[in-house]
This record gives sequence, structure tokens and C-alpha cells, in this order.
Amino acid sequence: MKEPFAKDPVAKGAAELSALRSALANDPHRPRYHFLAPANWMNDPNGCFFWKGKYHLFYQYNPQGAFWGSIHWGHAVSSDLLHWQDWPVALTPSRDGPDKEGCWSGCVVNNNGTPTALYTGIDPQTVCVATSTDDLISWQQLETPAIERPPSSLELTGFPSITGHPSADFRDPFVWRESGRWYLAIGTGLREKGGAVLLYDSEDLLRWQYLGPILSGVIGSNCNMWECPVLLRFGNRCVLFVCPHPEAKYIYWISGQWRENTIQEQQRGKVDLGGYVYAPQCLYDPNQNRYVLWTWIKEGRSAEAQRAAGWSGLLSLPKECRLASDGSLILEPARELSSLRREHRAGSSEKLTSASKDPFEGLEGDCLEIEAELSFGELAICDVYLRASKDQSEYTLISYNSAERTISVDCTHSSLSADVDHQIVSGDLHPDQEGKVRFRMFVDRSVLELFLADCPGITQRLYPTREDSLGLSFKVRQGSVFVHHLSAWKLSSVWC
Ligand code: FRU
Repeated sequence: MKEPFAKDPVAKGAAELSALRSALANDPHRPRYHFLAPANWMNDPNGCFFWKGKYHLFYQYNPQGAFWGSIHWGHAVSSDLLHWQDWPVALTPSRDGPDKEGCWSGCVVNNNGTPTALYTGIDPQTVCVATSTDDLISWQQLETPAIERPPSSLELTGFPSITGHPSADFRDPFVWRESGRWYLAIGTGLREKGGAVLLYDSEDLLRWQYLGPILSGVIGSNCNMWECPVLLRFGNRCVLFVCPHPEAKYIYWISGQWRENTIQEQQRGKVDLGGYVYAPQCLYDPNQNRYVLWTWIKEGRSAEAQRAAGWSGLLSLPKECRLASDGSLILEPARELSSLRREHRAGSSEKLTSASKDPFEGLEGDCLEIEAELSFGELAICDVYLRASKDQSEYTLISYNSAERTISVDCTHSSLSADVDHQIVSGDLHPDQEGKVRFRMFVDRSVLELFLADCPGITQRLYPTREDSLGLSFKVRQGSVFVHHLSAWKLSSVWC
């Protein structure tokens, strides 16, 4: 029989992948407006790229199941950063090529009209190249790596690398163009000295010259090497993101002046405090002259539970990324997200105490956004309850304590299941110059992303077991809270 989609690989890929997606649509833990793979395992975002008016996302994908291994590059395309169409898998480990054991993380750049992926081949770890001449649908993987091995002058970590093979840690190329040359930053580790990002340059993306380390050192609690470097330039200033491994729990950023191929550090911090957010990728969006950042969000349940669910991992919401004048990193939800807002409750210009009516009364759901701009009396505490069951046996609690100036996300009671994480994570949140505390949070079934002004985000995973764990409420526990603005919306799904 004739294959109906034979001439249209995008439609064929989309049909197959959307069948996988639909089969999981009723899973109550599957997010409805975050990006995630149609099924199976996913980890890092890769090669985020704007091409001919569309956003392209690639991601580490195992088509064989909801466990890490046999890494391919999945691919999805969007016109608005929110609604994604699945495209055919872009990179498959080639039979005899340098990526035969897996197509690990990397990036995509526009090489004078030819979309070109630079990614990690493994065992040994190398920089591989693939190009596309049909607008990113199909990819030709080069048989030889562009960088076969790290500089021999360095004593690197690895041997074995994380796959157990005798290779240096040398992975996750990030490439950009500047002053008529290509630059490549890659993650590695200097033996006994911590992680490092090495810098190369090239004229043609194929022959690379090693220039030296951009930065190195020990960051975090367990740091042999740094994975997934991303370097963003803001004129003469820059921010570098790195992921210390094997801690593998946090993304750290370092901002400063870009001078002679290194960073003169101004500030550093974590991107998120929850421990699930890892492996950043950024897209430069020429439409809006902005950087958009995504990260992998890990699961907070056992490997068995992930296999049983048939899927694992998702991407964070797209985040607009800027540097403040003092060098601190600002991450905000992409402006497009407000188009998902539906049913609404709001309060403004009122003082609330424990006796006040709940401003969110009557609104419930598992896909919600909450935006708050509040001032606190002395010793005041307010609570937001999310995903609460009618009998209060399940709920997630977000609390702001004005005396301590902390915000906490308490998942102790998020799920009656003992097999999922139940962690409490707190961050410092100071009132701004007008004395206002601001935050925004997004609940999407099993994921909660909290955006805080001037402070790392807090992302948590929650796996309520009860169908009625949909309750939302805002309560003042102690003291008084002045509401400048408080809103909650139900958000619509981006997946059918
Ligand atoms: C980060 C990472 C990368 C690697 C990829 C493999 O999560 O370990 O360093 O390229 O995942 O899937």
C-alpha cells in the first residue's frame, strides 16, 4: 500500500508523534502548557533556533522508553513559543559515525544560510557537525568530528567519562558568531581543580583553534566538571551558565565584563533553588531582540514510576533573560504566556487579615497562574494553597514570612504517595524600594514554577493522587497584608 505521508516527512512524523502524545493525554500528572516530548524520556533542550519566522526546539530524547539512553535529538516547531508541532527526530546515532553511541547536547547556528548543528558525539566525547538543506527537516551528519579531542596540554577529568568509557569529559558545545568569527564554548573538568569552560574559534565551523579557558573552578557541592555552558553577550557584558557535575542539581550563572576571552566577574548565583532545573539552552529571538531560556525540569519520582508513566522530563516555561545594571540575572516568564489566561479572580487595593474573604474563592484547577504584588505588616505571614483536596489531605503550600523575608514552597503534603519527593524549598525575597513583594507562579499539573523578583526561582514537582486535588486559596495566617494586586487565572492547554 502507498504510504500516505511518504512525500511529507513532517506530516508523517507529526502524525506518529501526536498518536504517542494522545495516548498519554489523560495522565493527570502530564503538564498541559509546558513543552514536553510526545512520550518516553527527554532531558536537555538543545539547539534552540529561530529560522524563517519559526522557533525550533531540539531536545535529548530516548525513543525507546522513559529512561535515559540511546540519545537522539527530538524536534518541535512553534510560531508563538507556546504551541508546538512535533517534527521528525532530527538526529539519530549514526551506524559507524562519531555519534554512534548517542547524539548528546549541543546547539544550532546559521552558517551563512545553512542551519548547522554542533553537538556531542560520545565514547570518546567529540564535537560533531550536522547540516540541513531542507529547512531543518532532515540532517546530514558529518562522518568526522570537527573537534576530535580536547587540547592535549590539559589534564582533564573523565577516564572513565559518565558512560564508563575511557574518555575525557568534553561536551555540550555552545557556538556564537562575533566580529566575523565563530566561537565555541565547551564544558569540561580540570583534574583536582573543578569545572571549566574552554573557548575555541574558527572561520568555517569545521576547523577550530583552542584559545584557553573562559572560566574554571569549583562551584557547588560536588564539582568534577561543568556541563552545558551557555554564554550570552550583552554588549561588553556577559553571563555564563554552567552545570556542575556530578552534583547535577543546579544551574549557576556568572555575570561580568567580557575581557580578552574571559569573564571579569561581577556577580554569580543559582538559576533555581528547587534542584530539578538543569541544562539551559538559549535562543536569540530577533523578532523581539531578546534571549529566551529553557531548561530541563527533572522528575521527582522513582525510575520505576517514570517507566510506568511512559514519559519523563519536561522543559521549563520559556524565560526572557536580561542582565540588570548591577550584573544580576533577571528571568521572567515569556510575555506570550499571558495569552493562555482564561477564567480570572482578582483583588486589589484592600487590606486582608485572617478574617478576610478568600480573594480566589470559586476558582480551582490544576493549570493556573498567580500574580501577586503585596505589602506586609510587621510579622505577617500569608499562604497560598494549591492543588488542595477537599479534605485537605493533599495540598502544596507557598508561604511568605515578612519577618524572615522568606518565601517557601512546602511539598510535604503535595501527595499521599510515599514514592515521590516531598521537599520544602525556601528563598529570600526582599520587598522592593516601594516596599512591595512581587511573585508569579505557574502550576501545571505536576510542575510548579515560582518566579521571584531579585531571587532565584523555585521549581518543584508535585504528584497529587486525588482527583479533587484542585483547590486554590489565599489566606493571611498572621498579621495583615495589603493587596496592591493579586490575580489568579486558569490557563488553557497548548496540547490537544
Ligand atoms: C546534561 C547532560 C549533558 C549531555 C547530555 C546527555 O544533562 O549530561 O552533559 O550532553 O545530558 O544526555
